[in-house]
Amino acid sequence: MRKKLYAGNWKMNKGVSETEEFLRDFWSKFTDKESSDLDAEYVVFPQAATISDVKRLWREEGENRCDTLGIVSFYWGVQNMHWETNGAFTGELAPSLVRELGCRYVLAGHSERRQYFNESNESAAKRAVAAHENGMRAILCVGESLEQRESGKMFEVLDAQCKAMTDLSSSMPEGFVLAYEPVWAIGTGKTATSDQAQEVHKHLRDYFTKAWGERDANRLRILYGGSVKPNNSKDLMSQPDIDGVLVGGASLDPNSFFEIAGNAKEC
Ligand code: PGA
Repeated sequence: MRKKLYAGNWKMNKGVSETEEFLRDFWSKFTDKESSDLDAEYVVFPQAATISDVKRLWREEGENRCDTLGIVSFYWGVQNMHWETNGAFTGELAPSLVRELGCRYVLAGHSERRQYFNESNESAAKRAVAAHENGMRAILCVGESLEQRESGKMFEVLDAQCKAMTDLSSSMPEGFVLAYEPVWAIGTGKTATSDQAQEVHKHLRDYFTKAWGERDANRLRILYGGSVKPNNSKDLMSQPDIDGVLVGGASLDPNSFFEIAGNAKEC
């Protein structure tokens, strides 16, 4: 049984006070147990400079509160992290710092990193592997552009993105997560239909079955991302190979992030 995962990628949004406001509001919603999905993990990816505040607030208020409400699985992570221990890499985050900040998850290879900052398949995979080597878990993002999809190159592109990971790791690092995010669906309001998403998720699970074996592939959680909203999360999460969602825009509002999960609670 793969535990559902709801991930919120805040990108370059929310300062310290907005982050604290979001968290207090979000945690308070779980008092309504009817509409809460308690059987799931939640993770937010705030801007890195606010994470020590997230950690503090969690210790001061969140942990206790969530414990009594039953959502013990609340985590946070960084949107990007370097693979080297430390050194002359201006602007990057060291794994030891990220760990010290209490991060459980690390996003690697988000399409915006690939598109605007020349992230390659290889560097994305190196970041993912480094997360696991440092006691955290990676969410490695893969996805095709519209042009690649329309020209029939979609599976080839996705396989190359996954191969960079399987070249570095001969079995699944414990807790590794994959996120399928078609580039044409990110921030555009165009979601892949649940059938389109399922087709790709199935393909990805088959890829990892070949590379890592059935046991690992069956445990691998594959999230869908790209214009996930409260009105489509249930449909997407009902698919057999969709184990969670990676949400951008709609995760900035505690109500919609909470509803995305609540609406999919029966899945
Ligand atoms: P979106 O972003 O939900 O705003 O489309 C998803 C993502 O980039 O992870």
